[in-house]
Amino acid sequence: MKSKLQQQFLTLFGRTDGKTYFSPARVNLIGEHIDYSGGFVFPCALSFGTYGIIGKRTDQQVCIYSKGFSASIYTFDIHQYDKDVKQSWINYVKGVLYILEVHQYKMDHGFDLYIEGNMPEGAGLSSSASVESLLLVMMNDMFDFGMSKKELALLGKSVENTFIGVNSGIMDQFAVLLGKKDYGILLNTATLDFTYIPLFFDDYQLLVMNTNKKRGLTDSKYNERFNECQTALKIMKTRFPVDDLCHLTLAQLNDAASLLTDVLYKRTHHCITEQQRTISSTDALKHHDILAFAQLLNTSHQSLKNDYEVSGIELDTLVEETLKAGAIGARMTGAGFGGCIVSLIKKNQLDDIIEKVTKRYQTRIGYEPSFYIVNPSDGTHRI
Ligand code: GLA
Repeated sequence: MKSKLQQQFLTLFGRTDGKTYFSPARVNLIGEHIDYSGGFVFPCALSFGTYGIIGKRTDQQVCIYSKGFSASIYTFDIHQYDKDVKQSWINYVKGVLYILEVHQYKMDHGFDLYIEGNMPEGAGLSSSASVESLLLVMMNDMFDFGMSKKELALLGKSVENTFIGVNSGIMDQFAVLLGKKDYGILLNTATLDFTYIPLFFDDYQLLVMNTNKKRGLTDSKYNERFNECQTALKIMKTRFPVDDLCHLTLAQLNDAASLLTDVLYKRTHHCITEQQRTISSTDALKHHDILAFAQLLNTSHQSLKNDYEVSGIELDTLVEETLKAGAIGARMTGAGFGGCIVSLIKKNQLDDIIEKVTKRYQTRIGYEPSFYIVNPSDGTHRI
């Protein structure tokens, strides 16, 4: 891959001094939609993602070519951050430069950059965090900012919140930047303390399936859920001294149920139970109880479907058919409303299950899903 990137860099920019990097995609195993409510999440980085090769310029120009997105080299001044409404991919780059400048990180020259991804776009596997983190690590190295990966993750979150306009939590950037081969990250999003948990599934394999549903109103629906949680928290704070929805107990929720609408009750119920499931799931893995872990994936999906209402016919069908075909666990992963599911499947049943699910999903939904055998990998790094 490295020599392919160097060749492209030479062709595009006529230079051989580029530095190459890789930034992964991520999949969340469990702990969904609770990273903006102070909950525990348990994602891992993946072996596909975004590659990039970068070289300093002596002037103030940023010149970028992104395979699959650019018609030609995209050029702008390093201090100009106007959002591009037509080419949205560039906003993840501009957003990083913007946020660095806002935080007083001085960038006194431009750069040439070539980007190439090998991950499914818009599938809920964090292609945006993958690109943002790539840029953050590159800028950190190029300008010697000396930031830790945790600090970079916080800046990546700010890019989403302030430049892109999605109120997302810290999970994606954290998983992408701090991922570790063969491990999941149990992250406490209230404190940013984290532990690496080994992901050894013996005879089972993690299989991600893409609904291939066309991307729709994910961002506005996401912000709607964020606002619902904010409202529920404000109400619960009038009764209990809590800073985050995930820190309530079920007893407290039931005690104050009359203060909440049905919808807000359900959202809060999801946050509290998902928090418990996430902690239990890592306990199960520590005791090597893969079946118990898988069972928690299944209950998580039901909660996201019924309480949090971020699933949909495509995700539900895929989960249902995958379990029917023989998977021991399956759930939607990421923001929802489309995108992917993550499942746990006996290795010797992979081909059979893929065949069955493809047929059944095609019959019920009208088009085929896609499948990715995934393995937990390292976070953004130089190659
Ligand atoms: C998106 C957001 C994350 C997280 C997930 C849902 O991926 O970017 O912060 O909230 O949805 O768990």
